Amino acid sequence: MNTYVPPLRFHALTRFYDRIVAWTSAEARFRPALLELVASSPGALIVEVGCGTGTLTWMLAQRFPDARIAGVDLDQEALDLARAKSFDGVPAPAFREADARNLPFADGSADVVVTSLFFHHLLPQGKRQVLAEIRRVLRPGGQLVVADWGRPHSTFAAVRFLAVRLLDGFAVTRDHARGIFPARLHNAGFTDAAEKAWFGAPVGTIRLWQATRT
Ligand SMILES: C[S@@+](CC[C@H](N)C(=O)[O-])C[C@H]1O[C@@H](n2cnc3c(N)ncnc32)[C@H](O)[C@@H]1O
Repeated sequence: MNTYVPPLRFHALTRFYDRIVAWTSAEARFRPALLELVASSPGALIVEVGCGTGTLTWMLAQRFPDARIAGVDLDQEALDLARAKSFDGVPAPAFREADARNLPFADGSADVVVTSLFFHHLLPQGKRQVLAEIRRVLRPGGQLVVADWGRPHSTFAAVRFLAVRLLDGFAVTRDHARGIFPARLHNAGFTDAAEKAWFGAPVGTIRLWQATRT
C-alpha cells in the first residue's frame, strides 16, 4: 500500500480542505500568480502533481482551454471532490489516481508540470523520487512550476508556520522551514530553478519557483 500524507493529514478533514486552504494559504493571490508563470500552447499536456481537490487543476482548465489538463493524486476522496466540480463550458481535467513517485505518463510527454502545496507532504527521499519522476515525464524544454510553503519571511511567519508543521508533520516540512527546498530542485537537475514570487499567508510564506527541463 502507498503511504502518503493526505490533504490535511487526517482523512476526516478532507471534506473541509477547500475552505481551510482558502483561509490559511493566501490562495487568492498565489494561485493566479502561479497561472501567470505557466507557458502553454494548443495541445500542450499540463499535469498537476498532487492535485488534491482539483482547485488549481480546474483553474488551469479554465485558463488554457486548448491544452490537455491532467491532475494526479493518491487520495481517492480528494479526487472524488475534484471530479464533482464543474465550470460552464470548461472541459473537465483528466483526474487520475496515481502515486507521484510513479507518474502515469510516458517519458518526455508533458509540456508543463505544476505542483501546489504538494512537496511539503513528502519526506526528503520522496521529494527526490518525485523530482526525478517529473524530470522523466517532462519533455526537454518543458517547464516545472512549484508553489509551496518556503522559508518564512519573518520570525512571526515562522511561528505561524508551526501550525502547518504540527498538522502535516515536522519531517516533511523541514526543508521548507529551513528554506532548502530550492536546493532540492537544483540537485534534481533543474539547475535554472528560480524563485519568482512570495506571498505572506496567515500560516507562513508561500513561495513560487519556476524551472526548465534541460
Ligand atoms: C495539501 S494537498 C495540495 C492539493 C492541491 N495541489 C492544492 O493546491 O490545493 C497535497 C496533496 O498531495 C497528495 N499527495 C501526497 N503524497 C502523494 C503522492 N506520493 N502521490 C500523489 N499525491 C500525493 C495528497 O493526497 C494531497 O491531496
